[in-house]
Amino acid sequence: MNDGRFGRFGGRYVPETLMVALDELATAWRTLRHDPEFLAELRDHQRKFVGRPTPLYEAQRLSEYHGGATIHFKREDLCHTGAHKLNNALGQVILAVRMGKRRIIAETGAGQHGVATATVCARFGLACVVYMGVEDMRRQEVNVRRMRMLGAEVRAVESGTATLKDATSEAIRDWVTHVRDTHYVIGSAVGPAPYPEMVRDLQRVIGDEAREQYLSEFGTLPDVVMACVGGGSNSIGMFTAFRDDPGVELVGVEAGGRGLVSGEHAAGAAGGTPGVLHGSYSLLLQDAAGQIRRTHSVAAGLDYPGVGPEHAMLSDTGRASYLPVEDTDALAAFRLCTSSEGIIPALETSHVLHHAGVRARALGRGGRVLVCLSGRGDKDLHTVAETEVPADESAAVPGGA
Ligand SMILES: Cc1ncc(COP(=O)(O)O)c(C=O)c1O
Repeated sequence: MNDGRFGRFGGRYVPETLMVALDELATAWRTLRHDPEFLAELRDHQRKFVGRPTPLYEAQRLSEYHGGATIHFKREDLCHTGAHKLNNALGQVILAVRMGKRRIIAETGAGQHGVATATVCARFGLACVVYMGVEDMRRQEVNVRRMRMLGAEVRAVESGTATLKDATSEAIRDWVTHVRDTHYVIGSAVGPAPYPEMVRDLQRVIGDEAREQYLSEFGTLPDVVMACVGGGSNSIGMFTAFRDDPGVELVGVEAGGRGLVSGEHAAGAAGGTPGVLHGSYSLLLQDAAGQIRRTHSVAAGLDYPGVGPEHAMLSDTGRASYLPVEDTDALAAFRLCTSSEGIIPALETSHVLHHAGVRARALGRGGRVLVCLSGRGDKDLHTVAETEVPADESAAVPGGA
């Protein structure tokens, strides 16, 4: 990638008013990412504010339950605010301060990115506006309260499906109007260049730490590295560190919703076609006329009709594969992880946990599966409580309570 493209994907498809701001951002990022002072400041905050490095954890009882490969979690749920989103928000806000921007805007789906951005803005004393679809505000009410408590203004978006796609469109509209003093902290590896590259670089810390921890603990690399894919930031952060390890398979897990055949899903890479959304050319869920299709996922953070352009390229080249997991399987995985490991995972993360079980069984004993545990599920208790309780899987866990 050198011109904002990842193979045939990426680029900048934005109104002319944003081109200068994107150029300015690209120049600032390419300079600062190698600047020792900026990097030292970032690392210091990562250590003292975010809580890095996050641990590598063996999910022993879950591995036993599946009776196959050993599953390890990279514990991004232990980051301050409860998800990997803080890695990106922190880096972008430090960058914005250095660029002299005093107003921050963001979009959010599950609320984790909104909370992360509001948190860093509180820490640095910056004004913060977060756009959020009313449907997501309903599902993720706790995070709305958290953002407001942190001093952010949460602007309700009622257009379209009132979810992440619509919140992103509103945030872009705001940015077009206030571009001089405002930095738009995009929360995933999507959007016009340089965002996908910048978000990847900021999330790469997850994969770099995990690779180092894995090697120093086991002297070898995992067979498979897996992460859930909304826009694709936690996954690209993991994948980038292992991309040049040909023996390591990379698997992205998407929201299969009510099944690919039903059309009610959010599997942009597995079920999408090339097109333009939110300033970038990538894989999207769209109809024959190029109109964005309605999406569905039980996990608000995966409920987005596309994936970042680098994922589109990794899918095209076959370096990574992208698999959908349905709501019911994600909910069952949520319950299983909670009851067998004492870790309540986010619903987004639960999608990858389902597939980690499938792969662990297929690989068999001696195999090694590394999962990005992208966030914690406190925010999802309300959604889970609303769903019908499937058969109690904890009974099937060896020694399960
Ligand atoms: C816990 C968690 N995991 C994953 C995601 C998906 O985002 P991404 O694909 O950018 O990692 C979200 C989005 O809100 C999230 O909150």
